[in-house]
Amino acid sequence: MATEWNKNLETGNINIDNQHKELFRRFDCLMEACNQRKGKEEVHKVLLFLGDYVRTHFAMEEELQRSHNYPHYPAHKEQHVGFIRDLEKLEQQFDQEGVTLGLVIQTNQRMVDWLINHIFGKDKDLAAYLRANA
Ligand SMILES: [Fe+2]
Repeated sequence: MATEWNKNLETGNINIDNQHKELFRRFDCLMEACNQRKGKEEVHKVLLFLGDYVRTHFAMEEELQRSHNYPHYPAHKEQHVGFIRDLEKLEQQFDQEGVTLGLVIQTNQRMVDWLINHIFGKDKDLAAYLRANA
């Protein structure tokens, strides 16, 4: 399943990897809540649970980058900001009428795809830099 963490996603930085695993777990919870046709209130709760951890995780990565003078911090941060914007859009859609579970599933899949691309394109580079500059 696409919402499962797997070894290919490993960056080699234990803190980042552990948080990524937790992120995938929470994405999976959201997917499960939708697939089981849980009520909107329940799905909303899981969405907030996910959003909360996304913000915690990005803040941790960004702090690591700043404290290690990571040269690619601006580009990395920009991707995080874009992702949070997408997430906020979904959260807002939830507060409005007419959001369907189908839309949440679709968005969830897009967010997971984004995360996988981000790990390969950005987080692995960051982990390599942190290893080299420890
Ligand atoms: Fe990142």
